[in-house]
Amino acid sequence: MSNRKKIVAGNWKMNKTYSEAITLLYEVKDILFKSKKNDGVLKIIAPPFPYLHDLHEASKGIRNIYIAAQNCSSEEAGAFTGEVSASMIKSVGANYVIIGHSERRIYFKETHQDVRKKVDLALKHHLSPIFCIGESAEDRKENEQFEVVGSQLTDSLFHLEPTEFSKVVIAYEPVWAIGTGITATTAQAQEIHLFIRSLIEKKYGKEISGSTSILYGGSCNAKNATELFLCPDVDGGLIGGASLKAAEFSEIIHSFPQ
Ligand code: 13P
Repeated sequence: MSNRKKIVAGNWKMNKTYSEAITLLYEVKDILFKSKKNDGVLKIIAPPFPYLHDLHEASKGIRNIYIAAQNCSSEEAGAFTGEVSASMIKSVGANYVIIGHSERRIYFKETHQDVRKKVDLALKHHLSPIFCIGESAEDRKENEQFEVVGSQLTDSLFHLEPTEFSKVVIAYEPVWAIGTGITATTAQAQEIHLFIRSLIEKKYGKEISGSTSILYGGSCNAKNATELFLCPDVDGGLIGGASLKAAEFSEIIHSFPQ
């Protein structure tokens, strides 16, 4: 058995009003409270920015539940209208921040350099990055998934000192699987997760590579979570659509083999 953390994270993206968000969190809490199964799994909720503080407060009382932001600024502070800094996110009680999600890379044109700066600021302010990487459908068609994922990983993370790198959670999210209902097969997921772990091992050694959590994301749901979580190098999931329903999200948390 590896000692790495098992994690199920819900990325709510730009969904839910304030009252819907609070209700959803209480529904999840209620289910988790009644069933202590998989108590040890880390549960992470990534709501929109305005709800971070109140959801952090509302999450108290359940073991191993943490709040994440979905993004942070690549700047420390100052005249950047509309931006939210890593230190602000930390100050309202979040412990994690999603960085480099493909929706940010594609729609908001975030570069390797931008996401690298975000990672540095997150770590400086004691937030653990959930760092997303993943190839497009076209990359996979050209069999370039290893190069793409490899450079996303090395260009934005491999400047980190080992102690800093060990605070990062990796999320492999193939772009073609996000919101499409097409999930990577267990063979595809395991192959890339193992590849990611082998790159980490080459750079940081066996101990750090063995303890880095690598999550799968992309149309992961209550029906396919168990088989994905059985893959030896898949340590959990980053869940989009299926995290918006309390019963399904809880079922995914309960999907880890005991
Ligand atoms: P879906 O689970 O909706 O495919 O989204 C995955 C994702 O992008 C999580 O960050």
